[in-house]
Amino acid sequence: MSRYRRLVVGCLVVAAGCGKLETGDTGPAEPPVDTSVTFADVQEIFDDQCVSCHVAGGVMATVPLTAAEAYDAIVNVPSSVDGVVLVKPQAPDDSYLVMKVRGTYGEIGGGGDSMPPGFLLAQNHIDVIVEWVEGGALP
Ligand code: HEC
Repeated sequence: MSRYRRLVVGCLVVAAGCGKLETGDTGPAEPPVDTSVTFADVQEIFDDQCVSCHVAGGVMATVPLTAAEAYDAIVNVPSSVDGVVLVKPQAPDDSYLVMKVRGTYGEIGGGGDSMPPGFLLAQNHIDVIVEWVEGGALP
């Protein structure tokens, strides 16, 4: 999936470069600027707010959110609620991790606390996670 996307983006970049040459622009093509949220932005939030517990030896070791493990531990991985995965690419409203940080997990029968326990993340941090999931939850 992600390899396919990269291929598509690569082709678009090549096409854009060709278009420029055809219009007589002899300068090098501008590198594409990707302003969308990346997993690195999400991992930064995990590093700051989550890994103290979500780590081997921590109180929530079953869902590790360290840089080495987080992606594989959450994307398309079943949550504690039957039939709901932690992160469903392109579907933040169906992603249990998003529900936990929004505090809406109770609506589908989830238990425990919102994440991090005791307070909600800053709205802009929640937005980063949501946008990453909406964008396909790419690695
Ligand atoms: C103080 C420790 C602590 C911190 C910090 C923390 N968690 Fe948790 N987390 C837990 C515990 C304990 C559970 C299990 C009980 C529950 O669901 O409340 C849990 C459960 C979860 C679950 C549900 C897993 C499932 O399948 O039920 C998700 C998703 C989650 N945390 C994500 C996060 C994220 C994202 C952050 C950071 C924004 C975070 N947590 C910060 C302790 C923590």
